[in-house]
Amino acid sequence: MQLAGKHVVVTGGASGIGRAMARRFAAEGARAIVVADLDEGGAKSVASEIGGSGLGVDVTDEAQVQALVASAERESGPIDLLCSNAGIAIAGGVEVPDAEWTRIWNVNLMSHVYGARAVLPGMIERGEGYLLNTASAAGLLSQIGSAPYAVTKHAAVALAEWLSITHGHQGIKVSVLCPQAVRTAMTAGSEGGGVAGVDGMMEPEELAECVVQGLAEERFLILPHETVLTYIQRKAGDYDRWLKGMRRLNDQFGGKTGISGQ
Ligand SMILES: NC(=O)c1ccc[n+]([C@@H]2O[C@H](COP(=O)([O-])OP(=O)(O)OC[C@H]3O[C@@H](n4cnc5c(N)ncnc54)[C@H](O)[C@@H]3O)[C@@H](O)[C@H]2O)c1
Repeated sequence: MQLAGKHVVVTGGASGIGRAMARRFAAEGARAIVVADLDEGGAKSVASEIGGSGLGVDVTDEAQVQALVASAERESGPIDLLCSNAGIAIAGGVEVPDAEWTRIWNVNLMSHVYGARAVLPGMIERGEGYLLNTASAAGLLSQIGSAPYAVTKHAAVALAEWLSITHGHQGIKVSVLCPQAVRTAMTAGSEGGGVAGVDGMMEPEELAECVVQGLAEERFLILPHETVLTYIQRKAGDYDRWLKGMRRLNDQFGGKTGISGQ
């Protein structure tokens, strides 16, 4: 997909990766960009910078996601690309309280379900449409220091795979974005050598460039950090050996949280 002339919605667009993608999509000539975020002020400020529209939306509330899609389509016609990008990280293991598991599940997984549910009927009717879901390298590998993040990002990857398998024949394109560490509010404070920094910290603008390339090639798996491909090959090739390596990394960084493990 080329971005020029397209109608794009980006959730979590007030900050970090979402903001960088929105800015870059505008530079590519997208016709209309809707920036949606829990942070309404931030969404409006990014939108005004790029000539789009900004909305306060909680992606864990299905009615709000439906309203977002309806309002975008009323303003600018059918959505060509939905970037379901909002996400959160919570540190800890199985001791994390249920309410926190539910909160991260709703942001990191159900938001993608609600997004797809809202746009798919129209896209299927038109015979075209593109879903770009932000997961993480943690959704392919794991996340040292955070079970809820590792688990919910795996779920996000699984959903994207399923959507691609099931709706591909209807003209629906799906990509899943799986970066390691990117310099955003989410990784602030972990630059100093936490696990997030093992393979370096990518700038959001650099990531946005990889996204534009991935979309142009209509690649399912968008891996801004190429080394992740090697890691998933190693994982698939010898799971026990990979787990041993991950335990070493856990010993090294245990207790610290970063955002993408290998
Ligand atoms: N930064 C990284 O290293 C990294 C690596 C891999 C994946 N990711 C993923 O990239 C995505 C963007 O993260 P980021 O690094 O830009 O973080 P960020 O904190 O800078 O941005 C996330 C944005 O999502 C918004 N958001 C959170 N909950 C929301 C909700 N319920 N409804 C609407 N908006 C909500 C926040 O307000 C924020 O503006 C997330 O899904 C994250 O898991 C980040």
